[in-house]
Amino acid sequence: MTQPRTEGPYAAAYAESLNDPDAFWARAAEAIDWITPPTRVLDDDRPPFYRWFTGATLNTCHNAVDRHVEAGQGDRAAVIYDSPVTGAKRTLTYAELLDEVSRFGGALESLGVEKGDRVLIYMPMVPEAVVAMLACARIGAVHSVVFGGFAPGELSVRIEDAEPKVVVSASCGIEPKRVVEYKPMLDAALDRSSHKPESVIVLQREQARAAVGERDTDWEEMEWAELMTDAEPTSCVEVAATDPLYILYTSGTTGRPKGIVRDNGGHAVALRWSMANVYDVGPGDVWFTASDVGWVVGHSYIVYAPLLTGATTVLYEGKPVGTPDASAFWRVIADYGVKAMFTAPTAYRAIRREDPDGELMRAHDLSSLRTVFLAGERLDPDTYEWATKVLGVPVIDNWWQTETGWPIAANLRGLEPMPVKAGSPSVPVPGYAVEVLDEHGSPVPAGTEGAICIKLPMPPGTLPTLWQDDERYVAGYLSAFEGYYLTGDGGMVDEDGYLFVMGRTDDVLNVAGHRLSTGSMEAALAGHEAVAECAVIGVHDDFKGQLPRALVVLKAGVDAEGDGDRIRAELVKRVRDEVGPVAALHQVDIVAALPKTRSGKILRKTMREIADGKQATVPGTIEDASVLDTLRPVLRPQP
Ligand code: COA
Ligand code: AMP
Repeated sequence: MTQPRTEGPYAAAYAESLNDPDAFWARAAEAIDWITPPTRVLDDDRPPFYRWFTGATLNTCHNAVDRHVEAGQGDRAAVIYDSPVTGAKRTLTYAELLDEVSRFGGALESLGVEKGDRVLIYMPMVPEAVVAMLACARIGAVHSVVFGGFAPGELSVRIEDAEPKVVVSASCGIEPKRVVEYKPMLDAALDRSSHKPESVIVLQREQARAAVGERDTDWEEMEWAELMTDAEPTSCVEVAATDPLYILYTSGTTGRPKGIVRDNGGHAVALRWSMANVYDVGPGDVWFTASDVGWVVGHSYIVYAPLLTGATTVLYEGKPVGTPDASAFWRVIADYGVKAMFTAPTAYRAIRREDPDGELMRAHDLSSLRTVFLAGERLDPDTYEWATKVLGVPVIDNWWQTETGWPIAANLRGLEPMPVKAGSPSVPVPGYAVEVLDEHGSPVPAGTEGAICIKLPMPPGTLPTLWQDDERYVAGYLSAFEGYYLTGDGGMVDEDGYLFVMGRTDDVLNVAGHRLSTGSMEAALAGHEAVAECAVIGVHDDFKGQLPRALVVLKAGVDAEGDGDRIRAELVKRVRDEVGPVAALHQVDIVAALPKTRSGKILRKTMREIADGKQATVPGTIEDASVLDTLRPVLRPQP
């Protein structure tokens, strides 16, 4: 167990969270309003499936919205919407948020949505996305938000799996250089999916209005505004702590995304606890997370955690640079008196590239800012040093994943701030028994790299299973080492108990803090008529952390010389159209063969290591080592 600290609030909390989780989490649960308070904390009746607060009931929306209004805080800002891409700014108080959420909840009910039904939300960063999420929580429906940068292919597999009764979307999203029309993508996704919703609700935005309800479809189409005109407010529905609040699909190694399930009770308890203890943010504080509601960071730290806390959350529809320049974040911090901000390291690398000395910062009053939190990808020491120097406040790395929903490792600014070490997200967060294991499942000594695992049970708020797929949950996460959850990340713990996360040990990609699957990109490539086989690997990139590269073998008879350029361009377009622009695949190499083991497994890791200029591990089971020799100059051209 990694716990070199033996004294102080962190050591005490960490020890209690593992030795007496019932007492630890029962106390944390007191910060939540329950309908039936918990009498049972950890439910370990059915290992390896653990549940929290079985038997208790609550409503997440009540805790995020109603309770603050009932406590007399209705006039406090709940959501500050700031959209440099449209010029819009709007503040919703808790009372206004309650009004919108309860009416949209009523609207969903009028469409027949009941407790347990799924509602898919495909929306840009607008307040209505937050309203839709909370309205689902209010009526006990299960939302599944899909990131706007995903194309119809990714959207349709999510529709197929979640089987939503209603889809909520918008006419468009706005990227700095183009308007992204959502409705045609949604229509294409629904055409492909065998599951059809009963209703589709579209929020019209003036930048590109969509044709709504003008076709003969299996589902009813309606506009958000019209629906809201007649909507009757609805009250909070009682749900079990163990009932699902949402499903968030994330990329695995195959093309089929994993439906991460989040429950209501454990989630509310864990997020509320994290806000105070990890992020040091309390009621009334202004908090700014620059991410997207389509990612887990957005779910947890744009929407639920700040609102459960009674804080003010900034919903920012813009980029770190280009909207209009690299001072965008500093303007937001100054305009709203932001106490702490959270984003991905790439965003800071983008700012640094445009404003290396932080000149643009000087025009803004950043005196409210206490801390910057970064997560979503590895925080490289260089970016960490730069951000610390120009900002002059602590820059805190924290490591987690969609599956956990909140940090596994962090420097706990509320509980007990610790010295920061560049390259490390600091220490395991209470509740997480982090261990680094070798290939046999034995803990490795300090300073040795291995597979980062979490001893079961994981704390409240983490995934109880995958949506309707217990088997895949066990096979994908729990079967590598018995009694442990496999994070998929490799790394080590040092002598002081600080964790260093080095990167994924599987084929999951992380491009600009966006988690993507090699499998879905390969599926898009393989669909091209000229492709015989293909592999996608994630190679190191100084700016985006990683970038995908594709290696394709063409079918016999295809003229690689004559048609190569056309095929490469078509393949780039296919990935963009199927997976989404966010996949950012720009490099496709046509090769004669791919390296494989004798059983046919493509050696992606070996190719990645060669491309990154690392010592490559070549398995003894390689079918034909000469293939790799031919590929070396393609993977890593010599200058
Ligand atoms: N809807 C539609 N398209 C989107 C999109 C969205 N929500 N988000 C990104 N895209 C598009 C971009 O417009 C871009 O398209 P292009 O190829 O036509 O230029 C493409 O997807 C790649 O986007 P991105 O990876 O974001 O690169 P970028 O060069 O546009 O921007 C950063 C780089 C660093 C500014 C941007 O990646 C960023 O803000 N990163 C922060 C990371 C983050 O928020 N991570 C979430 C987890 S914490
Ligand atoms: P996601 O599920 O999209 O949050 O992506 C999770 C993955 O991103 C992790 O498994 C890591 O590989 C990577 N990641 C997230 N945060 C960090 C961090 N602070 N340091 C290193 N890697 C990170």
